[in-house]
Amino acid sequence: MLLFSTSLMETVLSGIRPTGNLHLGNYFGALSNFIQMQHEYNCYFFIADYHSLTTHPTPSNLHGNVRQVLAEYLAAGLDPEKATIYIQSDVPEVIELYLYLNMNAYLGELERSTSFKDKIRQQPDNVNAGLLTYPTLMAADILIHRANKVPVGKDQEQHLELTRTFGNRFNRLYQTDYFPEPQAFNYGKQLIKIPGLNGSGKMGKSEGEGNAIYLADEPEAIRKKVMKAVTDSGPTTPNQEKPAAIQNLFQLMTVVSSADTIRYFEDKYNTCEIRYGDMKKQLAEDMIRFIAPFNEKIKSLKSDSAYLSKVANRGKEKAKESASKTIKDIREIIGIRSI
Ligand code: TYM
Repeated sequence: MLLFSTSLMETVLSGIRPTGNLHLGNYFGALSNFIQMQHEYNCYFFIADYHSLTTHPTPSNLHGNVRQVLAEYLAAGLDPEKATIYIQSDVPEVIELYLYLNMNAYLGELERSTSFKDKIRQQPDNVNAGLLTYPTLMAADILIHRANKVPVGKDQEQHLELTRTFGNRFNRLYQTDYFPEPQAFNYGKQLIKIPGLNGSGKMGKSEGEGNAIYLADEPEAIRKKVMKAVTDSGPTTPNQEKPAAIQNLFQLMTVVSSADTIRYFEDKYNTCEIRYGDMKKQLAEDMIRFIAPFNEKIKSLKSDSAYLSKVANRGKEKAKESASKTIKDIREIIGIRSI
C-alpha cells in the first residue's frame, strides 16, 4: 500500500454559495460555527462560486456576490490569520478531483438526492448535468483537503452522506484509506434548520419574497418583513399546540431574543392572550439589535477592495498548497502519470 502523510490536527471545511446576501439561516446553520471552529481546528472556508453556476448567474452578479460573501465572512468574524479563506474557482484542482469522483458516482444515487429532486421542481427548464453532479462537486470540495468535520445546516446532511459514500468507494476501489469519513458538525448538537418568515419551512434565498432576514438588511427592511410574517387568528384554548407558522416565530426568537422575552410570549400564548403584532415588533427589534454590528462592518469591508484581494490571494495560496498535494497523491493512487 502507498503511504501518505496526514496532519495531526483535525481538518474542517465548509462553504457557502454566492447566490445573494447571507441570511440568518446561513449564519446560525454554518457561519457561527465557522467562527468558533477557526480557533480549534485546521480550517478551510470557501465561497462556492462553481456551485452557483447551476442557476446561470450573470457575470456581474456572480462577481458581486463573491465579494459580498467574502465581506460578510470577514464582518462576521472569520480571521484570515486563523482560517484559510478562499474562492472555490481559485483552486481548480477541485475540478480534477470532481472528475475522478464522477467516474464512480452512479446515476441512480445522484437522481435520488433530495436536493436534486427539489431543484427539478424549482427549475424544470434548467435541469442541467451540474445539478445532477452537485453532490460529487461538493464531495470534491471536502475531500480535496481530506476534511474530517464539516459545519453545515440540516439541509446538507444528505450531501455529507454521499461524500462518505464516494470517498469510501474510492478507498475500496484503489485499496487505500486515503480519504477520511467526513462528518457534518454542530458541536455535538443536532444540525439546525432556521425557518423562514413566510410559513415555508426553511429560511432561504430561493424560498420567496420576504422569507429571509439578511445580515446586510437595514432596520426598516427587517421591520417590514417581520411584520408581514404569516400568523393565524390566535390560540383559542390554553396550552394549545402551536401551528407551524407560529412555531417558526418562536424558533426565530430563540436565536435572537433573551430567555425572559421568550418566556413572556410563551406565557401569553399559553393563556390565549398573545398579540402577534406585539410579538413581531419585539422579534424585529431583537433581530435589528443582533444584526447591527454586522451591518456597518459589511459596508466598510465591501468598499476595501485592496484588503479583500489580499485575503483572497492569501487563501488561494494556502488552499492550493493543500489541494495540489491531494491531487498529486490521487494521481499516483489512480495510476495517472505521464510517460
Ligand atoms: P448554501 O449556500 O445553500 O448554504 C450555506 C450554509 O448555510 C446553511 N443553511 C442553513 N442552515 C440552517 N437553516 C437554514 N435555513 C439554512 N439555509 C442555509 C447550509 O446548510 C449551509 O451549511 N452545497 C452547499 C455549499 C457547499 C458546501 C460544500 C458546504 C458547496 N460545497 C462543501 C459544505 C462543504 C450549499 O448550497 O449551501
